[in-house]
Amino acid sequence: MFVQKQLETATKLRTTGIVPVLVLEDVTTGLKLLEILNRSGVKAAEITYRTKAAPDVIKEAKKEFPDLFLGAGTVLNLDHLHQAFDLGASFAVAPGFNPTIVKEAVAKNYAFTPGVATPSEVEQAFELGVRMFKFFPAEALGGVAMIKNIIAPYKHLGIHFMPTGGVTAANAPEWLAVPEIACVGGTWLGKADDLKAGNWEKIEKDAKAAMEMLAKVRG
Ligand code: 3PG
Repeated sequence: MFVQKQLETATKLRTTGIVPVLVLEDVTTGLKLLEILNRSGVKAAEITYRTKAAPDVIKEAKKEFPDLFLGAGTVLNLDHLHQAFDLGASFAVAPGFNPTIVKEAVAKNYAFTPGVATPSEVEQAFELGVRMFKFFPAEALGGVAMIKNIIAPYKHLGIHFMPTGGVTAANAPEWLAVPEIACVGGTWLGKADDLKAGNWEKIEKDAKAAMEMLAKVRG
């Protein structure tokens, strides 16, 4: 069941292509940003547990934007996982591979995507049923060349990745060209600095440019 859930999540993330990783300080700013992203054609977002506002943003955003594929990010413990599940976040993501969290996600049949950085982590997470992995920190680990090398021995197993960490509009096409990469993620859309400065026009311009890039790459 969990494997099936993982594969369904990979398929869904593939249709979204880009997942903005958001750090939101308050609900009002979060909803305003999500409205702009939604209007610009962005189909998914990850609200990270890096701020206290995260659960409230998830809760309100689920009501306001029911069509958005909304996930919880930076899920670092079981409390985060349970809360994300209870709030109805469609998926949850972590920067690292924590077997305790993965096992709980298996028990709840919840779409949890742990982060991996090495073949050993891929194998351990795979054994627990993970098929949709975050690859983090993608660029610092060695970029597209590194992920291609990691994927090579497991290609036949049907695994899917979301690279984040240093992924930008400029290098996203190269990542998205790898067949096993379902989507890319990153903080370059709805950047914390732009949110603080209220650069809404820039945020909208960046989001539209990202969707145009995606359309070109994915057709
Ligand atoms: C993440 O959690 O996925 C990263 O913080 C995203 O990395 P970026 O800030 O380099 O996009």
